[in-house]
Amino acid sequence: METLVSAKKNLNKKGFLDIETPNIDYVKEILKLKKEKNAVLLAHYYQIDEIQEIADFVGDSLALAQQAAKTDADIIVFAGVHFMAETAKILNPTKKVLLPDLLAGCSLADSCPPEQFSEFKKKHPDHLVVTYINCSAEIKALSDYVCTSSNARKIIDSIPQDQPIIFAPDRNLGDYLNKETGREMLLWDGACMVHEAFSMEKLIDLYKEHPDAELIAHPESEAHMLKVAKYIGSTSGLLNHVKNSDKKKFIVATEAGILFQMLQENPDKIIIPAPAKEDNTCACSECAYMKMNTLKKLYLCLKHELPNIEVEAELCKKAIIPINRMLELSK
Ligand code: 13P
Ligand code: SF4
Repeated sequence: METLVSAKKNLNKKGFLDIETPNIDYVKEILKLKKEKNAVLLAHYYQIDEIQEIADFVGDSLALAQQAAKTDADIIVFAGVHFMAETAKILNPTKKVLLPDLLAGCSLADSCPPEQFSEFKKKHPDHLVVTYINCSAEIKALSDYVCTSSNARKIIDSIPQDQPIIFAPDRNLGDYLNKETGREMLLWDGACMVHEAFSMEKLIDLYKEHPDAELIAHPESEAHMLKVAKYIGSTSGLLNHVKNSDKKKFIVATEAGILFQMLQENPDKIIIPAPAKEDNTCACSECAYMKMNTLKKLYLCLKHELPNIEVEAELCKKAIIPINRMLELSK
């Protein structure tokens, strides 16, 4: 007979009875299914701790694309957001690519609708197009090069200095790259809501409490944040910086999921997430899309092999060209 204790275990966070997966040890089942189905679990640093813990590979956008390009698994389960899984599918058109929640999108990718971008591109026919990987397959298909925050400088430097460039969709990363490279790339006016959520006012107060802390930031952050940051880099860049630095205290301006790896790698260091403008539960900046993936959704998606990402063959053929250029230049 069901006791009150066991009945309570089957209630989810909202208090509803979990009739689909009662008493399931998700971690155990996911590991079992992964093995049975020869699936590889790729996770971004912004995923919840529990997913990062069981992933076969945790990395930044570039490392995840590189892993997807070389995997011999039959199924790729992408614990990340839609554009990441879509990139993995473009690289592996014959493999099954699963995303635990199809609604796990990206505000930055959404800020660049293909029809409008195509019109913008037509107005500047002499420009090459470099796009940040955080965009749709349609935008990639309209691009000459794809880049991530860890190789953007390298990709742009590979293009002759006098060649005009359109950079999309992130205006903050584009502005930062213009300053770094001395170029005047035309910027698409898109942004990531997570990296535009930091509060300078609260950051100043935090600094007063921790004058010995070093601010480090992801280049998707706004110019005023980047101006005061002592180090700017991709998620893997930020992790390497903290690991290799003699400093003991850091304020980190990126999505809070990175703290899991940072604290694991640096148990002796103090890591403080940069404060967000809005008061929320974590008092930091979290990506609601990245956090849509849960252990339960991961289990169900592996079990049913759904939702699976589809990219139309013609689109795949076009979108893979700038992705492969990026991978080639990043070797
Ligand atoms: P990187 O992991 O490449 O730094 O990208 C951060 C990000 O916003 C992913 O959505
Ligand atoms: Fe997109 Fe920003 Fe979330 Fe990254 S953190 S997935 S750029 S919304």
